[in-house]
Amino acid sequence: MSSVLLLPGDGIGPEIMAEAAKVLDRVDQLFGLDLQIDHGLVGGAAIDAHGTPLPDDTMAKAHAADAILLGAVGGPKWDAIEAGKRPENGLLGLRSGLQLFANLRPAILYPQLAAASSLKPEIVSGLDILIVRELTGGIYFGKPRGVHVNEAGDREGFNTYRYSEPEIRRIAAVAFEAARKRSGRLCSVDKANVLEVTRLWREIVTSMAADYPDVELSHMYVDNAAMQLVRAPKQFDVIVTGNMFGDILSDEAAMLTGSIGMLPSASLDANNKGMYEPCHGSAPDIAGRGVANPLATILSAALMLRYSLRSEAALKAADAIERAVGTVLDQGLRTADIAEVPGQSVSTARMGEAVVAALALD
Ligand code: NAD
Ligand code: IPM
Ligand code: MN
Repeated sequence: MSSVLLLPGDGIGPEIMAEAAKVLDRVDQLFGLDLQIDHGLVGGAAIDAHGTPLPDDTMAKAHAADAILLGAVGGPKWDAIEAGKRPENGLLGLRSGLQLFANLRPAILYPQLAAASSLKPEIVSGLDILIVRELTGGIYFGKPRGVHVNEAGDREGFNTYRYSEPEIRRIAAVAFEAARKRSGRLCSVDKANVLEVTRLWREIVTSMAADYPDVELSHMYVDNAAMQLVRAPKQFDVIVTGNMFGDILSDEAAMLTGSIGMLPSASLDANNKGMYEPCHGSAPDIAGRGVANPLATILSAALMLRYSLRSEAALKAADAIERAVGTVLDQGLRTADIAEVPGQSVSTARMGEAVVAALALD
């Protein structure tokens, strides 16, 4: 038996989660996974019900579960709420409370979607990049932080970009190991020409390279990396970077795959416990209309089976989900974000049901 906690969240979160839940139910039946599925509130939905974005009950369920699948949090309804109590703090609290320091964001172009990418097909065809984003440190969590009145009497906002040596070592080790299992190329992205914290990052990553002689390590400044990702993205295999640079570069990489609605992610602790979520947000502009692309969430469920549940049957189920996504794309099904012909698109539910129908044992 494996316990899975579903946290739909806000905006399109419940819509895309409903489809991922159907897919999980079906692979549970097909592969005999014996999943025990529970639900919880996080983000704006939890603020509305309990006055806090991460209720104790949700945190307790998250600790108890083998793995967590999250939709998305946030939206204009809660935008005026003060820092620290916003929907996004629910997500950040889960990440740091569960010590999910390693965020894997694979950007893979399905060949069927080459025309949906904003780049020319020859630049993106065969694209398969893994962004390894540090998730529980850096400027997102560094202290001191806040807004105060400075000596000149002006209000001043400040955050602290901070990484300790152990934090850098553990995320770099994840990235070196991932590169070793792939093509053996690792690019560490930093701003070592300006920021001391990333100078230390570069020094430590460089010193670790001797332990991974089979990995070819390179370094790139983040501004150049942002440019190279759209100039020649296939030069990259594994990218490792800090929390904020990884956030930005992964949204950029998403567009190479056709849509942010295609990019799944896995957030892992040191023992492969994980939370899985699409890279996109709650998409308030399309929420409630049944048009969001559920594939990033469905593919996140596949990552969950592979990285956290890990039984023989779970690995087969993960492969089956990824194959089924390929099948529905072969069938020409497209949500609006990946449609080649505007207007010729299917709903969120139709896409989810098509994936369910395409699931097969092998
Ligand atoms: P967003 O990712 O929600 O949306 C950006 C654009 O992409 C929008 O035009 C949206 O319609 C589109 N989009 C996103 N997901 C899509 C999908 N599955 N199918 C089709 N189109 C999709 O980013 P944003 O607008 O900057 O943020 C909205 C809210 O989401 C904010 O409150 C933000 O904090 C939150 N957010 C949450 C997460 C998360 O929960 N992991 C991630 C990013 C942003
Ligand atoms: C993401 C999101 C989050 C982040 C926000 C909602 C806290 O953008 O998961 O990419 O910045 O990490
Ligand atoms: Mn983001």
